[in-house]
Amino acid sequence: MTNILTIKNLTKKYHTPEGETLAIKDITLNIKKGEIIGIVGSSGCGKSTLLNILAGLDKETSGEIIKTNFKDAYMLQSDALLPWLTVLDNACLGLKLKNIKTDENIEYVKKLLKNFGLESFMDAYPSSLSGGMKQRVALIRTLAIKPDIVYLDEPLSALDYVTRLMITDEIHSILKKMKVTTILISHDIAECTSFCDRIVVLSKRPAVVKNIYDIKLKKPSTPSKNRKDELFNYYYDLIWSDLDK
Ligand SMILES: Nc1ncnc2c1ncn2[C@@H]1O[C@H](COP(=O)(O)OP(=O)(O)OP(=O)(O)O)[C@@H](O)[C@H]1O
Ligand SMILES: [Mg+2]
Repeated sequence: MTNILTIKNLTKKYHTPEGETLAIKDITLNIKKGEIIGIVGSSGCGKSTLLNILAGLDKETSGEIIKTNFKDAYMLQSDALLPWLTVLDNACLGLKLKNIKTDENIEYVKKLLKNFGLESFMDAYPSSLSGGMKQRVALIRTLAIKPDIVYLDEPLSALDYVTRLMITDEIHSILKKMKVTTILISHDIAECTSFCDRIVVLSKRPAVVKNIYDIKLKKPSTPSKNRKDELFNYYYDLIWSDLDK
């Protein structure tokens, strides 16, 4: 597979009145076209910092990000909806900002809203949605522009366990169908192992790459079925033992 994105010797230091924080230290990583790559690491290790830099919201201290020609979209860790816009308008916000809010693209967003069980809330305002529903709208907004690559920072963290399991298969199937390269941050090793093609384990701060696993399950399928795969626990245990606790 060809690389869509290359991260070379990336280092990030924050300077605050209290002093200097080394968040990321010398990370080198190739992201392959079409893969779903998971990033796990303990809280505060530097995961969001890494995505912020990839998305261009923050600047590296040293190192290099080599991007091929692609359209990217970012769902932030606490991605908020605009309270004065309806669900449909919130979901179409990226399209509007990019000046591609065509009838066809609006139809596509409506289809996504339907897939995610939000069809009857299209004209509602965010204040009438549950936390999980808001997060789904934020995810749809991210996917609406049909990006080549998405950065997802804990996209399902506000969802209860059952809802989370139910929509995970749907999201996985959409990402694979659209062939979207995905960088997913998750605290949940089981979620990552069942969802991702590859998993990068970061050390505690400053984040360095501790290990990278190719997840080769016996019979790769949907995330919920992957959890029952013969090799699922093998990878889960490896990653768990790698994580700095
Ligand atoms: N803008 C900033 N200014 C100063 N320090 C920051 C800034 N953003 C992050 N940091 C520090 O950098 C480190 C990494 O933060 P980051 O948000 O990347 O962690 P994380 O791995 O995403 O954590 P979590 O899993 O809790 O979301 C932390 O020590 C944090 O305090
Ligand atoms: Mg974070």
